[in-house]
Amino acid sequence: MKAYIKTFGCQMNENDSERIMYLLEEEGYERTYDIAASDLIVLNTCTVREKAKNRLYGHIGNLKRLKSKNKDILICIGGCTAQSMKEKIIEDFPFVDIVFGTHNIPEFPELIKKSILTNRSICSIKDNGFDPDLFKVKREYNFKAFVPITIGCNNYCSYCIVPFVRGREKSVEVKKIIRNIEGLVSRGVIEVTLLGQNVNSYGKDLNEGCTFSELLEKVSDIKRLKRIRFITSHPKDFSRSIIDIIKNRDNLVKHIHLPLQAGSNKVLKEMNRNYTREDYLNIIENIREEIPDCSITTDIIVGFPGEERYDFLETLDMVRKVRFNRAFTFIYSPREGTKASKIKDHILLEEKKKWFKELLETQNRISDEENKKFIGKKFKVLVEGKSVKDGNLLEGRMENNTIVNFKGNTGLIGKIVSVIITRAKTFYLMGDLARKNYV
Ligand code: SAH
Ligand code: SF4
Ligand code: F3S
Repeated sequence: MKAYIKTFGCQMNENDSERIMYLLEEEGYERTYDIAASDLIVLNTCTVREKAKNRLYGHIGNLKRLKSKNKDILICIGGCTAQSMKEKIIEDFPFVDIVFGTHNIPEFPELIKKSILTNRSICSIKDNGFDPDLFKVKREYNFKAFVPITIGCNNYCSYCIVPFVRGREKSVEVKKIIRNIEGLVSRGVIEVTLLGQNVNSYGKDLNEGCTFSELLEKVSDIKRLKRIRFITSHPKDFSRSIIDIIKNRDNLVKHIHLPLQAGSNKVLKEMNRNYTREDYLNIIENIREEIPDCSITTDIIVGFPGEERYDFLETLDMVRKVRFNRAFTFIYSPREGTKASKIKDHILLEEKKKWFKELLETQNRISDEENKKFIGKKFKVLVEGKSVKDGNLLEGRMENNTIVNFKGNTGLIGKIVSVIITRAKTFYLMGDLARKNYV
């Protein structure tokens, strides 16, 4: 039996796909990348913006065709769109066999059996939950791994649907995290990415007295673990101690993803972000002072309801001041049930698109300029596979997460090598393997 799985969302969603695949393998399914050859299809969906949600609709027509050719194929929809739409998915698409939410992953094998047995569509959604088997995954890569440290979110940024589809924030106990990472390292993993919607608030719900920076210290102590990443940091809880530990530990990457969202204090307040532009700049100043070569990336929303041209110009000003290595930029998308979706919004989408373009052009120029600074320098690159752009090249990531393409033997996949950067594009770099290439 073959299972096809497609992931639509964030790293947490990717990690969920790895958990789903683990359970499917336990049930005797084998993974396939050929949807037409599969017996079971899982779409693991995202609903953070309307566009992300609509990607599901783009795929579902194709599934209908497959199902009409072979009625034994099981069509399963999981993830955050499933969590928020519930039965509505089956009402709209009656050929869907199973709809399961973000808290129902452990039940998935049971749902499969039930659906086959009864030959009926099933929808199972829980509002909250915490899976003790969070770490049982079928990993995509054998040299790097995601490690969820918190699930859910308590922040209720006024535009965001995540707290509604992921439930309340819950931290995983320290000893479980450490044991899991030690296990991964013993099986050859050299890079881990600690995951949480707001990693900085790690541990606040536990009685273990371990803060995020203390957790980082413990993870960093694990021998043979070469690289530690973490996402996402929230500026409101970003402490000085995190900067100190990044500065002092070699295996913590010098890269911080710190979503700004907006540059105007008025908009930040309306977004319920709990920091000001001055607070944000202050953190950046501290990072630059202590870790001069740290790269900083961000997320920005353009066109939040009530945002005026002069507010947007403050965002642009922040982008110029901070000089992010990269920014993930989004046009505001109203999400049902969130506070912001009720705020009156008088700026036309056309206008927002113009601002968005302005922001993109400014940021791309900065990314370009920052990338050019890497030319001629040598960096450690974790080789991840063949290049997506050119199959004759390898592709890897620098510590700061920038993609580098270079010539090399596929035997280097999964290793950290030294690469000298030769050319810079806006979103990736080209390089040559350094002669003494292992580090
Ligand atoms: N927990 C993370 C990010 C979660 S969603 C954090 O707090 O940073 C990823 C990004 O999507 C957000 O940072 C935000 O920039 C964007 N986003 C979330 N909701 C959005 C919405 N309704 N419209 C547009 N962008 C949104
Ligand atoms: Fe959404 Fe804010 Fe939570 Fe991030 S911190 S997931 S943006 S509510
Ligand atoms: Fe992630 Fe999208 Fe859900 S960003 S948490 S998969 S809504």
